[in-house]
Amino acid sequence: MAIKVILVAGARPNFMKIAPLWSEMIGHSNDFEPIILHTGQHYDYEMSKVFFEDLDLPEPHYFLGVGSGTHAEQTGKIMMEFERVIQNENPDLVVVFGDVNSTLACSVTAKKLFVPVAHVEAGLRSFDMSMPEEINRKVTDAISDILFTPSQDGDENLLREGVERKRIHFVGNIMIDSLVSILERIDQAYEDKVFQRYGLQRNSYVLVTLHRPSNVDDQGNLYKIMNFLNTLSFKMPVIFPVHPRTKKGINGFDQPFLRNEALRTLEPLRYKEFISLEKYAKLVLTDSGGIQEETTYLNVPCLTLRPNTERPITITQGSNDLVSMEDLMEKVELILLGNRKKGERPELWDGRTAWRIENVLKKWSL
Ligand code: UD1
Repeated sequence: MAIKVILVAGARPNFMKIAPLWSEMIGHSNDFEPIILHTGQHYDYEMSKVFFEDLDLPEPHYFLGVGSGTHAEQTGKIMMEFERVIQNENPDLVVVFGDVNSTLACSVTAKKLFVPVAHVEAGLRSFDMSMPEEINRKVTDAISDILFTPSQDGDENLLREGVERKRIHFVGNIMIDSLVSILERIDQAYEDKVFQRYGLQRNSYVLVTLHRPSNVDDQGNLYKIMNFLNTLSFKMPVIFPVHPRTKKGINGFDQPFLRNEALRTLEPLRYKEFISLEKYAKLVLTDSGGIQEETTYLNVPCLTLRPNTERPITITQGSNDLVSMEDLMEKVELILLGNRKKGERPELWDGRTAWRIENVLKKWSL
């Protein structure tokens, strides 16, 4: 009998993580019966549906449509809706991904209904409990039955927290599976169109994404960042696809920098376009977790505007570095002058992570 598995996605970074496992499982339909569940944490077309298209994912079997709210509202709504789905489907396993509110809500709900949970991207720690994601990671890891880690530091963190060795599986980074696959599908003609559309030249622009509450929720902070980007754009064009959370803050400004042609603020981009731009950026400035990983794989210089990262391997081995508002200009200038860090790809970031996960799950079901 095939194992009935609910794959849970809710927010943008989840979609790149479920796609490889979905296609691996659907290719072995005698072993698995995968069901895609989208909580609706992200719902705008640019934040959600377009990713299903680029990743060749089918329409989700369940869409909970929970939308936005406070953390408690969003988490609570997901739990209530997901409980009904579990009662209806009676799955053998629930697989959750990453560290968003949907990850926490669905893992807790499944466990309380005695359904085993597997967590993909387990063990990452920023050791910063002011981040909602750190709480989500710790709770999810503490209750999951099977923990799939993207890097060895994840194993070490879990072991230190008392997780049994036999539950931990180092399988590599599943987001890189999607990256490898989309890179194969982006040809030069597509890239040329993207560069034409945005009026950019390869290797001569800075790509920016910022959405962490610590950077964008405070208007004063966001103003400082926008001012910096404005100054930077006189040295090199800046392209900045703006997350909805960040857009709310920027909409409150009426400043000349919003009319500066070299500082291009855009709607969130589709996956295929974003990766095309990321691949040839002179520098990426971000606070995203996934982008720290993608730039490491692509060996593109990345500066992460955060005091810490739950993905230290992108710094110790990859092309990433942490930066603060104080040393931002200095570090950016060094990279623009060509003084950049050369990284290497971490172990098992090779496009085969979903396959390894599937193999573990096949044995687990025996
Ligand atoms: C969430 C995740 C974060 C992840 C990020 C990626 C949590 C706690 N945070 O943060 O880890 O890095 O997704 O994008 O789960 N909004 C829209 N349209 C949408 C979605 C959101 O307009 O499709 C607006 C809403 O007004 C909402 C705000 O953006 O209040 C933030 O959305 P939310 O899902 O709460 O968190 P993110 O900041 O997106």
